Amino acid sequence: MPLVNTKKMFEDAYKNHYAVGAFNVDSIAMVQGLLQAAEDAKSPVIISISKGSRKFMHPGNIKELVECVSKDITIPFAIHLDHGDSFEVCKSCIDEGFTSVMMDCGDDVSFDERIRLTKEVADYAHAHGAVVEGELGELGGEDGGSGHGGYSDPQAVKEFVLKSGVDSLAVSVGTCHGMQKHTTLETGLIKEMMALLPNFPFVLHGSSTINNANLKDFNDYGGNICGAVGVPEEQIREVVKLGVCKVNIGTDFRVAYVAALRKSLALNPSRFEPRTFLEPAKKAVYDLVYHKLTNVFGSKGHNKF
Ligand code: 13P
Repeated sequence: MPLVNTKKMFEDAYKNHYAVGAFNVDSIAMVQGLLQAAEDAKSPVIISISKGSRKFMHPGNIKELVECVSKDITIPFAIHLDHGDSFEVCKSCIDEGFTSVMMDCGDDVSFDERIRLTKEVADYAHAHGAVVEGELGELGGEDGGSGHGGYSDPQAVKEFVLKSGVDSLAVSVGTCHGMQKHTTLETGLIKEMMALLPNFPFVLHGSSTINNANLKDFNDYGGNICGAVGVPEEQIREVVKLGVCKVNIGTDFRVAYVAALRKSLALNPSRFEPRTFLEPAKKAVYDLVYHKLTNVFGSKGHNKF
């Protein structure tokens, strides 16, 4: 099984001007759709799992679950903890076989304490073959709501990276999680950070575009999401060209899955085999991932490094 950490992935992405997609999964069917799309696109990919999703999926056995469904998968992939909020959570994921963890210290922690907490995780991760993503700047909307946080300061970013030992860093340049986003990113800030830290992998959270066709299905078949605004794909392509190495997609991935579920449930009222509904949902995430890898992140064909 080609389970790897993200170190070589990001080196190759930086060198060849593409980004690796990290998709937030909640179920093993989502993992299957994700890995198959990456396999068909011959692209590396990151299986991203939040604390809540891990609890739902089976803490302690995620690696084994993924192993079971990835026997025929040949592309390199990582299992990543998204928004780990303590040393203990990060440690238990690393011990369990995650190859990458994010240490998110929250918004109310001082700069020095943030360095200390992140370094503790980085030291542990590096001693166990894993890598760490840090965070500096408010990303906003992490609970699925809206919110626009303060942007990252390039000088502080440089100091944080050098002192904490992180392998990659999530920065705030205008994206936020959930359904209400800015439509323009601060590309100038990204360029400043790149100039201060050449070859360092920056990460973009909150990068969903909110696909109108999926959202239409979602609402046409009983959902109720109004006023959603995503980041245009053109903006994502632009920051990828600048050197952003990892792009996080949760909202688009989840909406695709649930919209397909809603539709198949509504169109098949007398069916009761779960696979009748789960197959189209799996296919919907496959289509979404294949599209992003091929047309937005540019990672298609970069499966060897
Ligand atoms: P979206 O809500 O834009 O998909 O962002 C997901 C994310 O960044 C997860 O950490």
